[in-house]
Amino acid sequence: MAYYSGDLIEEVISQNDIVEVISEYVTLKKSGRNYMGLCPFHREKTPSFCVSIDKQIFKCFGCSEGGNVITFIMKVENIDFWEAVEMLAERANIDTSRYEVKSYYNKMDASKKDLKETLLKLNRDVGIFYHNNLVELLKEKENPVKEYIIQRKLDAKTINKFGIGYATGKEPLYDHLINLGYTKEEILASGIILENSSGRMYDRFYSRIIFPIFDIRDRIIAFGGRAFSSKVLDKTIPKYVNSPENDIYHKGKTLYLMNFAKREKLDNIIIVEGYMDAIALQKFGFENAVASLGTALTENQARLIKKYTDKVIVGYDQDEAGQAATLRGLDILASHGLNVKVLKLDREDVKDPDEYLHKYGPERLKKCISNAISLVEFKVSILEKNLDLDNFDSKVKFLTGVANILSKIDNNIERDLYIDKISKKYGMSPGPILKEVEKGLKKKNDNDLVLDMQTLNKKMQLMTNVRKRQEQYIVALLLSKKKNIQDEILNNIKSSDIENEDVRKTFDFILSLKDNYDINKIDILSKIHDEAIIKEITDIMYIDISGYEEKLLQDVLKNKKKEKLFIRRDEILKRISEDISPDESEILKLELNQIIIELSKLK
Ligand code: UTP
Ligand code: MN
Repeated sequence: MAYYSGDLIEEVISQNDIVEVISEYVTLKKSGRNYMGLCPFHREKTPSFCVSIDKQIFKCFGCSEGGNVITFIMKVENIDFWEAVEMLAERANIDTSRYEVKSYYNKMDASKKDLKETLLKLNRDVGIFYHNNLVELLKEKENPVKEYIIQRKLDAKTINKFGIGYATGKEPLYDHLINLGYTKEEILASGIILENSSGRMYDRFYSRIIFPIFDIRDRIIAFGGRAFSSKVLDKTIPKYVNSPENDIYHKGKTLYLMNFAKREKLDNIIIVEGYMDAIALQKFGFENAVASLGTALTENQARLIKKYTDKVIVGYDQDEAGQAATLRGLDILASHGLNVKVLKLDREDVKDPDEYLHKYGPERLKKCISNAISLVEFKVSILEKNLDLDNFDSKVKFLTGVANILSKIDNNIERDLYIDKISKKYGMSPGPILKEVEKGLKKKNDNDLVLDMQTLNKKMQLMTNVRKRQEQYIVALLLSKKKNIQDEILNNIKSSDIENEDVRKTFDFILSLKDNYDINKIDILSKIHDEAIIKEITDIMYIDISGYEEKLLQDVLKNKKKEKLFIRRDEILKRISEDISPDESEILKLELNQIIIELSKLK
């Protein structure tokens, strides 16, 4: 990664409106001068996540995360500062090369950043190596790899587009990487090469067909390798082996082929399970297909999808789809505001979309896609599958189960439509279902009430931390742009007077800026790398003290004085209770009297 001058930061901030950027991750609703939404950094039911268009900052009043557009991207994408800057520069079409600085050297994250850089480069080299292996093998007249590739209907165009490769043996890759100049440590950090007990280095993926996994910026971040032919019949060998997670690969944040699927605005995204399924779909023109690679869907993946579309169609293997972990994944998608539909293949003789496409073709799959059922209908159908509806007890169970599913729907009209539809489909009268749903709803409302009390309590706790708030006023006043106020603060308050550590650090930080106390300059947050200070400053930026500066200043100074008097009072009381001379006791009592008089004046 290149190093950039600080001007790029300002450019990135001014070219990426925070409301627009955050809207790609969070549904925001306008509320006065601010925008509110559900916080992406903690689970919540009522919005406490606030974005200020004037100040170009965000703040969550539930979990206290806060910052500017760069901080937001860092957190939500789990990337470091300069990566976030680059990503936002790309988003705003800023030419970063104009800001490159040759000698700029940021010691803080240099080593970590360099490792990431190296791993990305190494993965690329490995990808090319594997791909070339396969290309060579396909030139031969015949061999088992070629036979398998043909059998799986992977044509040359597909192999090139998706960088598919082959890992020939245990040794060649390590030697190749050493020849390219990588160190043993770097190679091992990639997780592609493993070291056996006798110190021999070998390729994790040997004898496997290789699928590179890309991030949304087309960089190879991991690999998946499939055993082929007879090997799969040997149950001791896993069908697929994948790169382990490391600095550049986070499984739960990745969707395979998302880099090919991503468009400005997609009508929908099709999520399937396997490498081969996503590839087959894209090959047949379903360029909006991605794969979750056999794991249950995560919050991060939901957010990633939400950037491009509001609608997902999930096409899992029939046996996988009903499993609890899968259902939880689908619920996660729905809870992020995605409209979730479930694809049902209309043939039982094929296992997955890949097989279906090759056997029945894309037109017929298109029909299945347009017949995809809603998540609610899907859950009901699973319930039904596990029960024998001719049996009385099972019927009761079914009814209760259906009511349970339906009572989770927030929209009344939608709920009623489902009651109607389901009662018709299963030949039941809607009355009892409705009754059960209402029971479920009541329980849910009670639960919501409890939950709301909890958040309320939490917020109250935050609010009632009066002392901290007082100390925050000190910083707010320091930033008030009024010279006389700033001077009063600087003359009367020392950093050590501030008890709360975060506020104290913030106070120190602002002092370190010397003449630059103008916190409303939107780039100030970019100068801060300490998380605690970022949180604190955004908190303080939300305190609007304009018009109250004088009064607050008096309060702050008064409290400061009171505090000192209290401390002295306690010292005296302690001393008096000790074994001291009558003279000293007399003097202290006089002082104590004086303090009590002063304190009463300050009330
Ligand atoms: P499947 O068993 O459905 O395989 O696993 P598939 O994708 O249809 O592959 P083919 O058609 O048999 O070649 C679905 C996904 O689960 C992950 C892989 O990502 C796979 O694509 N998986 C499966 C593993 O990671 N390891 C395994 O051993 C099996
Ligand atoms: Mn398959």
